[in-house]
Amino acid sequence: MAKILVVGSANADLVTYVDKMPKEGETRLGESFSINAGGKGANQAVACAKAGGNVTLLAKIGQDEYGKMIESTLIENNVNTKLLLDSESQTGVASITVDSQTGENKIVVVKGANDKLTIQDINDNIELIKQSDILIVQLEIPLHVARHAILIGYLAHKTVILNPAPAQKLNNDILKYVTYLTPNKTELEILADMEIHNEKDLKIAIEKVASYGVKSIIVTLGDKGAVLYKRKEMTYIPSYKVDAIDTTGAGDCFNGVFAAYLAKRYNAIESVKYAMKAASICVTREGTIKAMPSKKEIHI
Ligand code: ATP
Ligand code: RIB
Repeated sequence: MAKILVVGSANADLVTYVDKMPKEGETRLGESFSINAGGKGANQAVACAKAGGNVTLLAKIGQDEYGKMIESTLIENNVNTKLLLDSESQTGVASITVDSQTGENKIVVVKGANDKLTIQDINDNIELIKQSDILIVQLEIPLHVARHAILIGYLAHKTVILNPAPAQKLNNDILKYVTYLTPNKTELEILADMEIHNEKDLKIAIEKVASYGVKSIIVTLGDKGAVLYKRKEMTYIPSYKVDAIDTTGAGDCFNGVFAAYLAKRYNAIESVKYAMKAASICVTREGTIKAMPSKKEIHI
């Protein structure tokens, strides 16, 4: 089976559900609290493995209780942890507040050990990158390290998926090495340096980012679905109608499942459809890793 390597973050998610987001300066009483394994890299790796992918996560954790929780969660979910590296720093944490009425969230991440991932860590494992077929990278690790992993994947002729989250500006010295760029609307606005108010803006923004050399772009649009831009053609794929209770990790679910189906030799449009089905299930459940659907549930 094709191999997938995720290079990214692993966090402990400190999640509070509240009936309404507090305003600035306001204190509200929450409904519940839990601590779970998360982080974009770990979430994407689990989503991919649960969809049937053969996946390894290259990430850095601290030697603390949160690090142990992340490692055991990954193992339980069949993610290969041989490249889960130890750091002297504390494991990354994400403080997440979810509005239980709308399912929308606010997240603050303290990168901790994720920020200690180095180019040397990538180089030490270069053979594994070369043995993988698909590489997935996000931006909760140092940008120059993400770029290095992407470049190595590109030079080794791998399919490179970059999920440019959390949102930040990127230059073409990264984007030109990417096979599939998967921003949400906000991330695309930052990459294209413009606001998107309608379909026309969306098209202009996609074409602007494509002009930096990215081969294909998939913009995820929440409950509106996604747009795939490939070989100058734009395909709009609507999402499933569901009652979302927690959208945290929807993008991660999408990315991990998309990679899993590409690895099974489905084409990009088919893989987006499976990713969308999976993400629509993910948003109907609380949490990230525990919300990722199984292969059996992802049928279209
Ligand atoms: P998040 O940051 O919340 O993890 P994101 O902003 O990266 O997510 P979105 O574009 O919000 O990504 O969602 C990713 C995919 O998840 C969408 O393309 C869609 O398939 C699915 N999705 C998200 N929200 C909903 C919803 N309310 N109903 C149905 N599907 C949804
Ligand atoms: O995308 C969701 C993830 O973002 C959470 O699991 C949290 O750790 C932050 O990284």
